[in-house]
Amino acid sequence: MGAKNDRAAWLKGGGVKCSTAPAAADRPYRLVLLGAPGVGKGTQAELLCEQLGMCHLSTGDIFRAAKSLGEDERTPALEAALGYMRRGELVPDETVLNLVRERVACLQCGGGFLLDGFPRTVAQAEALAELTQREGLRLDAVLSYELPIERIVERLSGRRTCAQCKAVFHVTTRPSRVGGVCDHCGGRLLQREDDRPEAVRVRMEAYETSTAPLTDYYRAKGVLVTVPAEGAPDEIYRRTMIALNGKK
Ligand code: AP5
Repeated sequence: MGAKNDRAAWLKGGGVKCSTAPAAADRPYRLVLLGAPGVGKGTQAELLCEQLGMCHLSTGDIFRAAKSLGEDERTPALEAALGYMRRGELVPDETVLNLVRERVACLQCGGGFLLDGFPRTVAQAEALAELTQREGLRLDAVLSYELPIERIVERLSGRRTCAQCKAVFHVTTRPSRVGGVCDHCGGRLLQREDDRPEAVRVRMEAYETSTAPLTDYYRAKGVLVTVPAEGAPDEIYRRTMIALNGKK
């Protein structure tokens, strides 16, 4: 596996090019990850992308990257999006869809893609179906991770994220080698603003109301793969690969 892709085209948008892009695969994977906030989608995305070579396209990461832009560089829509995110609410579909449409070239990446956190509403799923159809692409699978809510809250409260490369750790279940320092790039590990208890409650409600119905939507299309998210990340990864091999 080559150097980790910097995802510059996805995170920054516009005409920005990635400095290291995934190598073109003969049969690139094109996947969507579903699941409640904190179930472990980002952790599995990292493992899957390392092994299968596709690019990790997280809409949440676009918003978090926008926080480091100067105030004059943020559009009013992006500024408003950061407010929704801080409160744990979903960002309006139109804002999210504009960002994804601007980055449609990322869906054509030769290494494939793994969408994490998008789509999150049925309207977003319908827009993605239109985009993929127009681009001549097909989703291989939609992986839905499932875990009881008490276990999810434990995962969220101990999460620490690298301020620089966005790698995800957990204070007890996935600690970094040196406390507070990222294993990959040496960046500082921070707690996310939306992991405060009030914001977590709002995120769970938004998930139940708007995102959970997507499992029925994708089941009806025959692409849904349900993966129990109990156990260590490596076990869940192996379970995912077995489920995926049965699908592709
Ligand atoms: P987003 O960034 O997408 O966050 P999320 O869906 O809330 O998911 P998380 O990143 O919180 O959790 P995760 O499932 O990736 O878990 P992780 O692997 O980190 O969205 C954030 C916000 O952006 C939204 O609230 C919304 O405002 C906005 N937004 C984004 N996209 C949008 C869209 N399309 N439409 C509208 N709004 C949008 O794991 C959690 C912790 O558990 C970590 O510490 C990890 O180390 C640990 N862990 C993971 N797996 C295990 C395991 N197996 N055992 C023990 N610990 C584990």
